[in-house]
Amino acid sequence: MTETTVYKGLAGVVADYTAVSKVNPETNSLLYQGYPVQQLAAELNFEAVALLLWNGDLPSEDELKEFVEFERSHRTLEPNVRQAIDLLPTDCHPMDVGRTAVSVMGANDPDSEKSDRATELVKAKKLFAAFPAVVAYDQRRRRGQDVVEPRDDLDYSQNFLWMTFGEEAPEEVVDAFRVSMVLYAEHSFNASTFTARVVTSTLADLHSAVTAAIGALKGSLHGGANEAVMHTFEEIGIRKEETREEAAARSKAWMENALAEKRKVMGFGHRVYKHGDSRVPTMKEALDAMVEHYGRGELMGLYDGLEAAMDEAKGIKPNLDYPAGPTYHLMGFDTEMFTPLFIASRITGWTAHIMEQRANNALIRPLSEYNGPDERHL
Ligand code: ACO
Repeated sequence: MTETTVYKGLAGVVADYTAVSKVNPETNSLLYQGYPVQQLAAELNFEAVALLLWNGDLPSEDELKEFVEFERSHRTLEPNVRQAIDLLPTDCHPMDVGRTAVSVMGANDPDSEKSDRATELVKAKKLFAAFPAVVAYDQRRRRGQDVVEPRDDLDYSQNFLWMTFGEEAPEEVVDAFRVSMVLYAEHSFNASTFTARVVTSTLADLHSAVTAAIGALKGSLHGGANEAVMHTFEEIGIRKEETREEAAARSKAWMENALAEKRKVMGFGHRVYKHGDSRVPTMKEALDAMVEHYGRGELMGLYDGLEAAMDEAKGIKPNLDYPAGPTYHLMGFDTEMFTPLFIASRITGWTAHIMEQRANNALIRPLSEYNGPDERHL
C-alpha cells in the first residue's frame, strides 16, 4: 500500500494563485498588489489602500474622492442591524455581534444573489463603510453610553474614533489607528481569508463568505490573539506606577514560568514567518508613539520583558497582534473589541480575495485519508 502524505493544517500547501498580496518570509516582506506595506502605512490613508487591494492599482485623485464620498455616505447602520445588535446580550463576545451584523446586512442586500464584479465591489465598499459603526455602537452599548452618529467631515480613522469615544482623537492617535488598519488589511491565504475563499468557491454570496471569515478570525490562534495579548498583560498585572525596567523584570519572569509550563503565549509565532513578522516594526513604532502620547512606559516594560524572554528561550518572534493589542488598549478600546477592529480592516482583504476567487473559480474540496475502522457490517 502506498503511503499518503497528509499535510496537517495544510502547512506548506500552495492552494491557488493570488495577486492581492505576497508574503515573503525570506526577505521578511509583505507586498499589497506589489507595494511594500510599510510604504503604504507611511504614506496613504486607509481608504486609498482599500481601493488598491480591490482594484489592483492605486486610485487616481478622482477615484479616491469618489470613494471617500461614498464611504462617508454609507456609515450609518440600517435600523434592523441596530435592532439585531440590541437583541444580543451585552456580555456576549463582540465577535458574535460583528458576525451577526454582517449576516443581517447580507439579508438586507437586495443584490445578495448577484455576484458580478461591479455589484460585489459595491457590497465590499458598503461593508467597509458600515462596519466601524458596528464596533462603535457595540462598545458604547456595553458601557451604557448613547450612540454617537458619524460625522462626514472626518475621514475613516478619525470618524471611527469619534463614533467610539464621542470626541475627536488627537492626530497622533488617529495616525496610529490608521497604521493598524493598513497593516491588518491583508495577508494572503491566512485562515480567515481561506475560509472566505472556500465559501465563495461554492458560489455562495459575499456576505456569507465574510460572515464565515469572521468566525475563523475569532479564534485565538488567528485574530483573537490581539485580545489574548492584552489578557496576558492583565494576568501579569498592569501597574502604572512601575518603571519600565521593573515591569520588564516581572514580565520576563512570567514568560519563563509560562514556557516552563509549556503554555502557548498569544501574540508570538507565525505559520509563515519564522524570523519575525514583516508588519511588527511598523506597528511597534505606532505603539511607541502611543506609549509616549499617554506617558505609559511601564506598558512597554511588560512588552520588552515578554519579547526578550521568548526570544531567549525559543527564538520565537512577536506577530502583528503583539504590538496591536496594547496600542488599542492605550487608545481606550475595551479588550474584547480588539478583534472586531481586525474585522474592520480585514474586510478589505477578504472581499478582494472573494472577487479574485469568483473571477477564476474552482470548488475548494480537498481529500482526507480515512483512518476509521475497516469495512464492517450490521
Ligand atoms: N508560544 C509558545 N510556543 C510557541 C508559540 C507561542 N506563541 N508559537 C509556536 N510555539 C512553539 C510550539 O509550541 C511548537 O513547539 P514544539 O515544536 O516544541 O511543540 C513550535 O513552536 C511550533 O509551533 P506550531 O504551533 O506547531 O507552529 P504553527 O506554524 O502551527 O503555529 C501559530 C503558528 C498557530 C501562529 C503559533 O505560533 C501560535 O499558536 N501562536 C500564538 C497565537 C497567535 O499569536 N496567533 C496570531 C497569528 S498572526 C495573526 O493572526 C495576525
